[in-house]
Amino acid sequence: MCGIIGYVGERQADHVLINGLKKLEYRGYDSSGVGIISSRTGKLVVRKIHGKIQNLEELLKKSPLDKGTIGISHTRWATHGAPNRVNSHPHADCSKKFLVVHNGIIENYQILKDQLKKRGHKFRSDTDTEVIAHMIEECYHGDFLTAFRKVISQLEGAFALGIITQMHPETLYAARVGSPLIIGVGKNENYIASDVPAILDMTDRIIYLKDGQMAAITKDKVDVFTFKGKRMRPKVDKINYSVDAVQKQGFAHFMLKEIHEQPKVFEQMIKTRIKGKKIILEGIGLTEKQIKGIDRIFIVACGTAYHAGLIGKYVIEAMTGIPVNIDVSSEFRYRDPIIDRKTLIIPISQSGETADTLAAVKEARDKGAKVISICNVVGSSLVRVSDGVLYTHAGPEIGVASTKAYVAQLGMLYLLALKLSAYHMRISSRERQKILGDFKKVPFLYRSILKTKHSVLNIAKKNSHFGCFLYLGRNVNYPSALEGALKLKEISYIPAEGYAAGEMKHGPIALIDEYRAVVCISPQSEIYEKMISNMQEIRARKGKIIAIATKGDMSIKKHANFIIYVPVIQEILSPLLVALPLQLLAYYISVQLGCDVDQPRNLAKSVTVE
Ligand code: AGP
Repeated sequence: MCGIIGYVGERQADHVLINGLKKLEYRGYDSSGVGIISSRTGKLVVRKIHGKIQNLEELLKKSPLDKGTIGISHTRWATHGAPNRVNSHPHADCSKKFLVVHNGIIENYQILKDQLKKRGHKFRSDTDTEVIAHMIEECYHGDFLTAFRKVISQLEGAFALGIITQMHPETLYAARVGSPLIIGVGKNENYIASDVPAILDMTDRIIYLKDGQMAAITKDKVDVFTFKGKRMRPKVDKINYSVDAVQKQGFAHFMLKEIHEQPKVFEQMIKTRIKGKKIILEGIGLTEKQIKGIDRIFIVACGTAYHAGLIGKYVIEAMTGIPVNIDVSSEFRYRDPIIDRKTLIIPISQSGETADTLAAVKEARDKGAKVISICNVVGSSLVRVSDGVLYTHAGPEIGVASTKAYVAQLGMLYLLALKLSAYHMRISSRERQKILGDFKKVPFLYRSILKTKHSVLNIAKKNSHFGCFLYLGRNVNYPSALEGALKLKEISYIPAEGYAAGEMKHGPIALIDEYRAVVCISPQSEIYEKMISNMQEIRARKGKIIAIATKGDMSIKKHANFIIYVPVIQEILSPLLVALPLQLLAYYISVQLGCDVDQPRNLAKSVTVE
C-alpha cells in the first residue's frame, strides 16, 4: 500500500526520488521520507515529514540534503503506528548505518522487537519496519547479503524492502515476499520501485523481482539471488505504455481522465478480443475439454472488483447455466469453501496485488481448483499464481476510485460468459450474437453518455448537501447500486448504502425522509415496474430521487426529482452503461464538497496487507 522508490546512479538521488515518489503518491499519502548517502561525509542523511509529498518537497527546499547519488524513499499508508514524522520511512538502526524502506507487514515484529530491546536496541518508532534495520545491524559482519539473508529468514509476513548502507555506499539492496517490487534498468543508473509509474519517465526496462528473491544493485549492475543464495538470471521486460498514461493530460483529476478513457478501453477490448463472430480469450489457459468440464465457478475479489464479479455471476449464470458462487476474498479465505478440481476460480483484481485475493487464490489452488484471473497489471503477483489470465488492458489506473478497470472487468466477464455459452448453452446462438452485436456498440454509447456529463454535474450541485444516499437497483443492476454507493462514499465521505430495491421494505426504508437522496437505477427492464413501485414508496416519504433511466422514458418524470438518461441497450448489458453516470455523480459531488478526489482519506490504491 505504501510506495517505494530507490535510486543508484550519477544524478542527485533525492531529485530523482521525489520525482518518482510523486507518481506513487496514490499508493499511500499520510507521510513520506527520503534518505541518501552523502558523497561528502559518506554518512546517511534523512528527511521525513507528515502529510503529502508536497510537504517533503518544501522540507527539502528549507533543509536541502548533501550531494548524494544513492538513496531510498517512501510514501506511507500507516499500518503500525500513527501517521506522523517519526513513524514515516526510512528507518535506521541504532548506529544509523543501515536505512530501510518497507512495504507490507512484518507479522512477528513484536516478538522480534522485544528480543532486540532486551539486547539493548533503542527504538524510535512504533513501526514493524524498524526491527529490520536493527536486525541487520546485529547480523552484519562485513558481508551484507549474508546478513540480509539471515534477517529475512526470521521475518514472517509480506514485504518489499529497499535498503542502503554506508558500509556499501555504491549498492542498493532489495528483496520481496508478497508485496510487489520492480527493478528499473537504466544507463549508468538503476532503480527499485513498488510500481512502474514511479520510474516510467526514466526507463521502460523492468525486472519484476519474484517472490523469494533479493537483489544487489549498483549503477551499472543488477545481481539477483534467491534467499538461499542461488544467483538468478533476471529477465528484462519492456513496458508497453507511455508516460502519458500516468499523467492527467489536462484533466482536473486522474479519476475524470480515467472515466473519459472508458470508450477507448472498450474499443481496444473489442478490437483484440472479438474477430467477426468469434471471441478470442488468449491467455485463458483452458482446453476445450476443460471448458466443457467446468461444473461450477467461484469468483473472488474485493471492493469494486467484487461488484464486477457479482454482475459476472448474473451474466454467466444467465448465459451458461453454470452455477456461480462469489465471495469477497477476505471471507473466502477463512471459511473453508467447497471446491474441487472441476471448480473454476476466477479472481478479479485491478492491481493483482490485493493481499486477500492472493490468499484466496492460494486457498483454492491448495484444493486443486483451476485459476483464471481477470487482472489489469501485467506481471503482477496474481498473474504469477494463476493457470491462465484474461488481461483487461485498461492501462494504468491512478485514481484510487476504480472506474475504467471496473468496466474493463465487466467487459471481460461478458466475453467470458459469451465464450462459455458456446459450450454450456443456456441461450440460443441468435441471442448470443445479438448480445455480442450490442456489446460492440458500447464505445459509441459511452461517448454519447460522456457528452451529457454536464447534466450530471448540475444534479451533483443540487444534491451534494445530502448527508446520506441510498442506491437501489434490481437484478443485474443490484450490484451497480452497490458500486455506485461505494464510489460515492470513498471519495466524498458521505454515508451511502447500496441495496437490492426489493430489500427496501425490509429495513432501509426507515432511512427515508426529505433529508435523504435515493439513486434509483431504473433502466428499461423486465422488472421496471417494480422499480417504479419502489420510487413511489420513496416519494410518499419525501425522499429525493435521482433516477438513472433509459433515453426516451418520459413516464419516469412523474416519479423522479432528477433524471440521468443512458442510451437504449438490452437489460443484460445495462450495468455497462449505468456505471458511467454513477461514476460521474460521485466524482462531481466529491468536487463540490472540495474532497481530494484522487487520494481520498484513509485509502490506498492497492491493498497489499490483510
Ligand atoms: C475501488 O474504487 C476501491 N478503491 C477498492 O474497492 C478496490 O476495488 C479494491 O481494493 C480491490 O482492488 P484490486 O482490484 O486491485 O484487487
